[in-house]
Amino acid sequence: MKKIIIFLGPPGSGKGTQAKKLAADFGFVHLSSGDLLRNILKNPLANDPETEKALAAMKAGLLVSDQYIYKLVFGEIKKHLTDGKGVVLDGAIRNLPQAEEYQKFFQENNLSDEVLAVEISLTDEESFNRLTKRRICVSCGEIIPYLPATRDLTACPKCDGELKTRADDDPEVIKKRIVEQGNIALAPIISFYENLGILRRVDGQPAIEEVAVEVKKAVKAS
Ligand code: AP5
Repeated sequence: MKKIIIFLGPPGSGKGTQAKKLAADFGFVHLSSGDLLRNILKNPLANDPETEKALAAMKAGLLVSDQYIYKLVFGEIKKHLTDGKGVVLDGAIRNLPQAEEYQKFFQENNLSDEVLAVEISLTDEESFNRLTKRRICVSCGEIIPYLPATRDLTACPKCDGELKTRADDDPEVIKKRIVEQGNIALAPIISFYENLGILRRVDGQPAIEEVAVEVKKAVKAS
């Protein structure tokens, strides 16, 4: 089984939901570039002009600069891989230059044989539907789907924390994210991993548990 699992997919396709599950099942570390950015947002003392620019881009639904992402994510990957753990990268690659730079990083660290990319495919329309209804637990980060069993919850089922809508889940920002980071933007990244022979595709439309079974199968077979 590979040690570096890269989740790809449009905003709202279920990358975070599936990455958390996979990491918990296999004892891997879940590294979400979006969560790393949101953690910085919670700590204004850490802010500097470069950080301000990154967070403004994020709020507007645009991509943060590639260099900022490398600084944020590469150190984390190294830290956890030297601990002997695998890592699940969630949303950490959003354009072709990033895909190439990560691959270079993996090669330099003798990790290129350890990489598997998993695309969670979903239409942009369904992504939009899910994101307009998503809630997140402020305390533990649990992602709450809009399903009959969860849509009326008033507190987090795991820790009783407060449930909120993410700041960038505003309909206009979601539209922007889908234009900037949806299926059209993803196509060259998907081709990149396809050409390397390390891409697996999982349909993100079925129920969460069904998608999880397919993701697990793909990763176990790698
Ligand atoms: P990020 O936090 O990564 O946001 P995103 O890509 O927009 O992805 P989301 O978290 O919105 O969706 P997801 O695919 O994880 O879906 P989820 O599991 O929550 O990035 C935020 C911002 O940071 C970016 O816009 C950008 O500015 C910046 N950024 C981050 N990385 C960057 C990078 N590498 N380069 C540059 N900038 C970067 O699921 C969505 C909803 O659907 C949930 O409610 C969930 O419960 C529900 N759901 C999931 N699966 C199912 C299912 N099968 N059936 C029904 N509901 C489901």
